[in-house]
Amino acid sequence: MAHKGFTLWFTGLSGSGKSTISERVGHQIQKMGFPMEILDGDIVRTNLSKGLGFSHEDRDENIKRVGFVCQLLTRNGIPNIASVISPYRAARDHNRQKIKNFVEVYVACPVEVCAKRDVKGLYQKAMAGEIQHFTGVNDPYEEPLNPEITCHTDKESIEESVEKVIKKLQELGYLS
Ligand code: ADX
Repeated sequence: MAHKGFTLWFTGLSGSGKSTISERVGHQIQKMGFPMEILDGDIVRTNLSKGLGFSHEDRDENIKRVGFVCQLLTRNGIPNIASVISPYRAARDHNRQKIKNFVEVYVACPVEVCAKRDVKGLYQKAMAGEIQHFTGVNDPYEEPLNPEITCHTDKESIEESVEKVIKKLQELGYLS
């Protein structure tokens, strides 16, 4: 059976919930019988983007590489998910132009809430000045202006966010 390829692009601060939501969405899509590949920032940075840092230039390079893989998957009919901070609007929009069926998911959460969650202990370090260029603390995050989906993870449950994404994909005709 031929599938329609699409890229679900999750963007948001570290600790906003990108990985949690994207993993669950990916799993649900697989359960529906579709193929699915997930490119998660932490994993990408240990292989495809190994050696890149967090300067504006390196982040753009990272986003370009992830976008390139998504583009290849999408054009071959493989639904895929990118889950990366991708703080710069221009780099995200570059991928939007390149990738057919690009769906942007903004995982919105106030930085104070992400810092309180501090799952990896990185906010504490960044706030103590031990990490430079940490997104939301001492490095910028440019919010999407027109994302297809916005999940407010400080106000909605994980299940609600997952449901929202799946519903939108159905509306767009990608899961039929
Ligand atoms: S991106 O900006 O290039 O899109 P990416 O999503 O790949 O970032 O990687 C983010 C992850 O790297 C974070 O979840 C965090 O674990 C780790 N990290 C390490 N240093 C930084 C930093 N300076 N800013 C943001 N995340 C960092």
